[in-house]
Amino acid sequence: MIKGKSILSLMELDRNEILKILDVSAKLKEKRKDGIYPKLLKDKTLVSIFMKPSTRTRISFNEAMHELGGHCIDVTSTELQLGRGETIEDTAKVISRYCDVIAARVFSHEDVVRLSRASSVPVINSLSDMYHPCQILADLLTIREKKGKLNGIKLAYIGDGNNVCNTLIIGCTQVGIDINLACPKEYMPSNVAINFALKAVESSGSHITFYDDPQEAVKDVDVIYTDTFVSMGQESDKEKRLRIFLPKYQVNSKLVEKAKSDFIFMHCLPAHRNQEVTDEIIDSTNSVVFDQAENRLHAQKGLLCLLLLEESEIKI
Ligand code: CP
Ligand code: NVA
Repeated sequence: MIKGKSILSLMELDRNEILKILDVSAKLKEKRKDGIYPKLLKDKTLVSIFMKPSTRTRISFNEAMHELGGHCIDVTSTELQLGRGETIEDTAKVISRYCDVIAARVFSHEDVVRLSRASSVPVINSLSDMYHPCQILADLLTIREKKGKLNGIKLAYIGDGNNVCNTLIIGCTQVGIDINLACPKEYMPSNVAINFALKAVESSGSHITFYDDPQEAVKDVDVIYTDTFVSMGQESDKEKRLRIFLPKYQVNSKLVEKAKSDFIFMHCLPAHRNQEVTDEIIDSTNSVVFDQAENRLHAQKGLLCLLLLEESEIKI
């Protein structure tokens, strides 16, 4: 039962719930191709708060609500009294009197946890320093479209063990994707995500494997995924990070040689071209990054519908 939940990390959802969101998303995507926009969220409002910049998340949430017949109010935290010191709890209590669901992009994950505790409506984490659940729902939708399945797919994540990586570990191990990780020892994913994954693989039957050498990690994989080496909020560490990540963790034509020939390249974007990935790879025919970005819209539509409606109300 997804309705009414807050989605902060993807750990709130089990395998069947993730697959249910993907199914609703895929159906809405098909209808949209025919110009059909089911108004499932008529009279529903999303308030979408940003403490950091965003292109994909901000615009896709707006468009998702519009296409579903609802409404989105998006604001940056500096435009709210939050920027002048009103507490997160008071902000949550007030906003949840006006709307049906809140999305928030925050620096510290604790902030979105506090928001969800004080809110009387579901809260979606639209990126914190720890997790990026909406991104990974779109990624799973993309992998399923491109490879025809999730169970048994092999994915290598190369680079920073960051918010995207943590959530990818959680999502992949739930749905039966094998995940190979090559991250420097200084920037490993969180123990919370790893421990969740170690439990998830017991029931999904997939594997999580750690590699020192990115070349080993990509051997025979179907998907190669990377993200920036310098996430939002880490700018002061940029030089140190680039020294550690480059050249070893860059996804380039040499690195991908041992992957399956039909591997897909994925990146949540924005990319720092020729740092974590070369132009040659991100612009290659193996790259699916723009389909992946488009799927943010479809996956968020599926998620919003299931958070706000009973399954029986979702008639597509
Ligand atoms: N991938 C992603 O979340 O992009 P934005 O930062 O542009 O929202
Ligand atoms: N890891 C990146 C993802 C951006 C969508 C960041 O947090 O900046």
